[in-house]
Amino acid sequence: MKDIIDHIESRRDEYLEELQTFLRIPSISTDSSHRQDMQRAAEYVKEQLDRSGMTAEIVPTDGHPIVYGERVEHEDRPTVLIYGHYDVQPVDPIDLWETSPFEPAIRNDCLFARGSADDKGQVFIHFKSTQAFLQLAGELPLNIKFLVEGEEEIGSPNLQPFVDRNLERLAADSVMISDTTMFSKETPSIAYGLRGLSYLQIDVRGPAQDLHSGSFGGPVANPAFVLSQILASLKDENDRVLVPGFYDRVQELSSEEKEAFASLPFDEEAYLADLGVQKLAGERGYTPLEQLWARPTLEVNGLLSGFTGEGAKTVLPSKAMAKVSMRLVPDQDPEEIEELFESYVMAQAPATVSVKVTTMYGGKPWVASLDHPALKAAANAVEAGFGKRPVFQREGGSIPIVATFQEILGIPTVLMGIGLPDENAHAPNENLYLPHFFNGIKASAYFMAEYGRGVKS
Ligand code: BES
Ligand code: MN
Ligand code: MN
Repeated sequence: MKDIIDHIESRRDEYLEELQTFLRIPSISTDSSHRQDMQRAAEYVKEQLDRSGMTAEIVPTDGHPIVYGERVEHEDRPTVLIYGHYDVQPVDPIDLWETSPFEPAIRNDCLFARGSADDKGQVFIHFKSTQAFLQLAGELPLNIKFLVEGEEEIGSPNLQPFVDRNLERLAADSVMISDTTMFSKETPSIAYGLRGLSYLQIDVRGPAQDLHSGSFGGPVANPAFVLSQILASLKDENDRVLVPGFYDRVQELSSEEKEAFASLPFDEEAYLADLGVQKLAGERGYTPLEQLWARPTLEVNGLLSGFTGEGAKTVLPSKAMAKVSMRLVPDQDPEEIEELFESYVMAQAPATVSVKVTTMYGGKPWVASLDHPALKAAANAVEAGFGKRPVFQREGGSIPIVATFQEILGIPTVLMGIGLPDENAHAPNENLYLPHFFNGIKASAYFMAEYGRGVKS
């Protein structure tokens, strides 16, 4: 193993150069003007897989292409399916970026660019570890299948059908994903749970056009106000969601898991200070980590109505819109939650306006048991790569395809994330802490060695 690790150490500059080339491609999946860039990013991924000794192809879909590659070294060896995504989030608000999002820049050991942490930099560690292994050992200690998609940030609409169509091809013993954050810079972690998601839009329509609020305010309902009342009816003063049936399928935390969460080094004072928040909110009766990882929540992601420019304008807006999402936990079902949400919202709607609820996307929650061999191998690998034993945690975010891997392929996922909570994923000045990027490449190589040693179950 030492020669492989030395090799990785000696190639730092080269790895960094290549990652920057990947990051220069503005592969924003939600923006149709970037279709060409999506194709270019897929081609870049394929090239990396080719160099990793995989038989790789770009699979067109109704949306953005999937890149798939595999190398079956020997049938007796365990097989890992490595998943990641090459698409990134939009960059707005652009003026808050210190340097341009698609011109990677290094400051204080951090590489700044859209996608650096989520997920190009993270999926990249597995390209490099595979390449290092192959170059030095001439073969891999396990079978690898790479599945890298371009639609994770828009809910993976075409990946689910691809998995359904390719059950045999994707057969593996476990899934490895680096697309999450560690507990903190000092505390590496492996995640064994993700929240699910239901994302909806509420549109409220009133008069056919904006009106003078003096001439019409009173008899004519104000859509902004009605929408506010609907939103206010969604949660109570204890931050409990008021949609009937919302909590029916929620699994309560076991006392063991509660204790495990409580034993983690969560510093509330530092958390408040980092975020610039005065005091924490959240569902009463649960700690912040419990709220984040094991309780469902409801958030307003965006609001639009009326006059928001400089100065004042007396207007009665004709419409109002809100984007609302709910994070879900086992055993909540996104489709069921969407229905409950829609009927509750429609029941709140007064006859003075018209209200429409539209589902955007969703994903199921997922939690794994802690005793799978891949999870143990990953814990040892992180310890070897980072010099510190990882803790086990859940995640508040969502990766929709993970529940599918469990349900359809019947295999568990290991979330070996090397991101950090303060790396600004989805926000301006996204960045990746470079020492962790290099440690991640080493951890991935250790994982291959460690998991590859195991006998296929
Ligand atoms: N990498 C994230 C998931 C994530 C977020 C993991 C935070 C750990 C911490 C992923 O790219 C993502 O952003 N997922 C979306 C879901 C999707 C349906 C848009 C999310 O969680 O909002
Ligand atoms: Mn991601
Ligand atoms: Mn993301």
